[in-house]
Amino acid sequence: MSAVRGEFSSRFGFIMAAAGSAVGLGNIWGFPTQTASNGGAAFLVAYLVLAFFLAYPALMAELMIGRHGQANAVVSLTKVSNKPWQKHFAFIVGFGGILCAGFILSFYAIVAGWMLSATAQPIAALAGADAASTWLSEQSLTRNVIFTLVFIVLTIAIISRGVENGIEKWSKRLMPALLGILFLLIAYVLTQEGAMEGLKAYLLPDFSSIFDTQLIVSALGQAFFSLSLGTSVMIIYGSYISKKENLVSLGAYVTLIDVFIAFVAGLLIIPAMYVAQAQGVEIFSASGKLLSEDTLVFQVLPALFDGMGSVGLFVGFAFFALMSIAALTSSISMLEAPVSYAVERFALKRIQATWVIGALIAVVSITIVCNLGALFGLVITLTTKVAQPLLGLMCCIFVGWIWYRNSLLQAIQQGNPEVQTTLFWKIWPWYTKFVCPIAIGAVFVHSLLS
Ligand code: PHE
Repeated sequence: MSAVRGEFSSRFGFIMAAAGSAVGLGNIWGFPTQTASNGGAAFLVAYLVLAFFLAYPALMAELMIGRHGQANAVVSLTKVSNKPWQKHFAFIVGFGGILCAGFILSFYAIVAGWMLSATAQPIAALAGADAASTWLSEQSLTRNVIFTLVFIVLTIAIISRGVENGIEKWSKRLMPALLGILFLLIAYVLTQEGAMEGLKAYLLPDFSSIFDTQLIVSALGQAFFSLSLGTSVMIIYGSYISKKENLVSLGAYVTLIDVFIAFVAGLLIIPAMYVAQAQGVEIFSASGKLLSEDTLVFQVLPALFDGMGSVGLFVGFAFFALMSIAALTSSISMLEAPVSYAVERFALKRIQATWVIGALIAVVSITIVCNLGALFGLVITLTTKVAQPLLGLMCCIFVGWIWYRNSLLQAIQQGNPEVQTTLFWKIWPWYTKFVCPIAIGAVFVHSLLS
């Protein structure tokens, strides 16, 4: 089996792929909107603390399990289990994560489809195809179905090519493109009137709201979603890392890049909101609350781009292309979780497994598109607010309570022979044993009760 398993060919390739999974709509859209509606800089501070002190240790747990197992999530979790009940538990957690990734993809593809149609719209406008441009800019069932399917097919096309030629190759191309577009847009927005006020709201914390429990619950949820935790995705990406690599530093890079891009996206979106406000688009209420979280991307920003005349067409195109690219490097990781399982468990060919699972996910997506009001919010809540924290917590339990300490040490020493003497090894096992489960559990219970 190991001879046919894929592997990332380089450190850079892995970092781009895992950071590509982590950096997505959650960073560029979710984080700035949450920040704007949860007290600006106070949310930023809470997010930074939780990302480094809770999400990073949990990410390390998932990467470790995968790298040690060198197999799909179910098998990797089973390999660290010893007693029969633990092996059943491994199946539940691994398979649960795979299902969770599939359901996340089914709603993510809808949002990404909106991004694709918004990318196509300025092209149609520039080409003078007015009817097409209007059709693309209006919410309709047909448009949503078509673009959701286009996005799923793009995801399938990359995943069917495997780890090195699909995931790694495309992540290495798309992630730098994303960074480039992001910086260009920031440079542009910061020269606009009103942008400085936005920067202040984003960067100067009002510490009075920092201990607001709702803020902490949202910040942790955001950090978990953003690092793709609790979905088996980081287990499977971990399993493609060579045993020669130092996992502790790789995980740290991925976390740093993810947090950095969320932070930088805030530098774009929050000033853009204030620029739009200065141009007369209503964004904040009199008390400074964000009026419409959901419509930010589809009403506020397009209004801003419209106000810029013909430059706006280009800026709008660049912005939505950025969103689509970010979404694609994340969606491929979501599809990889079930595909890797199906390939290894049922000895299917990768291409068959990819199309069959992609088609199943497309059916779920289309069902959601046809029942947006009833299903969209429900699937998001069940996957991101319930399943992800619970499954992420379970992975910490595997590392802290189930995996024998000696075997864990041996696994982490591969590629990092000195680890035993580091601060990481002194803190992390204890941390994943007690602090992560208790903290994640407490936040989870609070979010259920509120
Ligand atoms: N981390 C991605 C984002 O921020 C979303 C994601 C969630 C990807 C779960 C994979 C698994 O958009």
